[in-house]
Amino acid sequence: MSTTGVNLGANGVDDHSKRHFLVAATSVVGAVGAGFVAWPFLASLRPSAKAQAAGAPVEVDISKIEDGQKLTVEWRGKPVWIVKRTEKMLAELSSLNGELSDPDSNVIDQQPDYAKNINRSIKPEYLVVVGICTHLGCSPTYIKENEPHDLGSDWKGGFFCPCHGSKFDLSGRVYAGLPAPTNLVIPPYSYLSNTRIIVGVDQEGAA
Ligand code: FES
Repeated sequence: MSTTGVNLGANGVDDHSKRHFLVAATSVVGAVGAGFVAWPFLASLRPSAKAQAAGAPVEVDISKIEDGQKLTVEWRGKPVWIVKRTEKMLAELSSLNGELSDPDSNVIDQQPDYAKNINRSIKPEYLVVVGICTHLGCSPTYIKENEPHDLGSDWKGGFFCPCHGSKFDLSGRVYAGLPAPTNLVIPPYSYLSNTRIIVGVDQEGAA
């Protein structure tokens, strides 16, 4: 299996809300960490654009994501967000269940089985989610609880779609009564180590 790497440099962490997704720094480093290796060598490891478009897995160093930050990488031409949630963020998720369309992730196509839990993730702190609204495909904006917003005093942080107003919590679960019909999609992914994940490959043993 061929894998690709994504350099999680200073520009790779994307903690500012943006409607159009930003892709993490594009240095491709295979299984190597930061981009300090000579480019000609790196280029030899870089998958072709054709391979990337076809869905080559994307390996990501998550070690530099700080609490509450979001990193965006590209997989199969889509933005995939990796958000490091705090204990407070995780503790508040259950309080939102009554406001959501599918709090228990019962719509089976929206996540692998190993993400069918309240955190919608393998490890609670790291959310890995496709950053595309399930209504008509806009890219929602990440808005933290403590950032300026107009989403009500009870907003716990999450994602707001500016196109038609859908809202998602910090597990990508959609609020009821809004245009988006389902939760955000959790892609297949797995951990290569405590600090590296690979998007596009199910965790071992998964169906
Ligand atoms: S595309 Fe997001 S609410 Fe319509």
